Amino acid sequence: MRIDVVSIFPEYLAALDLSLIGKARQDGLLQLKVHDLRDFTTDRHRTVDDTPYGGGAGMVMKPEPWAQALESLVATPAVGTPAVDQGNASPVVDQVSASERVETQTAPTTPAVDRASASPVSDKVSDSPVVDQVSASERVETQTAPTRVQPAAARPILIVPSPAGEVFNQALAYELATEDHLVFACGRYEGIDERVLEWAAEHFRVRPVSLGDYVLNGGEVAVLAMVEAVGRLVPGVVGNPESLVEESHSDGLLEYPVYTKPSDWRGRGIPEVLLSGNHAKIARHRRDEQLRRTAERRPDLILALDPETLDKADRATLGTLGYAITPTQVLPATPKSGVAAEATPHTP
Ligand code: ADE
Repeated sequence: MRIDVVSIFPEYLAALDLSLIGKARQDGLLQLKVHDLRDFTTDRHRTVDDTPYGGGAGMVMKPEPWAQALESLVATPAVGTPAVDQGNASPVVDQVSASERVETQTAPTTPAVDRASASPVSDKVSDSPVVDQVSASERVETQTAPTRVQPAAARPILIVPSPAGEVFNQALAYELATEDHLVFACGRYEGIDERVLEWAAEHFRVRPVSLGDYVLNGGEVAVLAMVEAVGRLVPGVVGNPESLVEESHSDGLLEYPVYTKPSDWRGRGIPEVLLSGNHAKIARHRRDEQLRRTAERRPDLILALDPETLDKADRATLGTLGYAITPTQVLPATPKSGVAAEATPHTP
């Protein structure tokens, strides 16, 4: 899977070099590149924001740097893949430092390197300065040249993290994990000029996505979460795919509690059934714990269960937890006193 992240704080994404996602990048399972939005500005201050029309607090991200950055991503293939259409864009990569880059934007001295042969994906996260080596006036010409329009289904997905987006969840993570190319556009300040999203819909399948009902300072933290949640579902990234099956949200329920040695720790035991060696009983115990924990912490998930996925024992457990199951729905019933809150007794 190819993932591109555009941000004014590329260093923020350095954590994607670590752990399973970092290894997946090294192994070539994820071609992840982080791009600095300021590399797509043309003024000497590398300005990415301006005051909002209509007034109001804060600044808004200017549209043109975003269009330049996103255009460069649709027009260029992933490293190692054949070029599809580089006709209109002239993206080239150099190896100069950020300070040199400001100079070279108007007076290039370094020879241009073809983007397709740029530094490999396993390079450090934020080393991908994507720079047009054309002059500022040439750049203005190219910005109006149309990028080839792909049929909707073949377009990459552009995820725009925003508290005003659809809420990210495991179902969306699974959906995104089947895609070939994801682009994340990290907004800052009061957000990105809305016209960028309208324009981008001609080249991407645009999805504003929220991490939850709270406000972050920018999209970077949301991207860290989403890339990890999606990346780990890409085949081969998690060594034991079985572990994906039994985790929270994989079946609409929260995960059951887990324990390891010692069996008696500071006077606290573990559920006796886990020592029984009886796999059927253990599976039943764990499923009941999932139902109990979900009813306690996330009753909304219990109400969203499809009755067809519930066996006889599930229905009995849900009954003791205060739910009634109709042919089409799980509904709250009058709880039987004490039963729902009762925890499974543990043996020290
Ligand atoms: N940017 C700011 N707040 C956000 C949120 N809740 N989710 C995703 N991106 C955001």
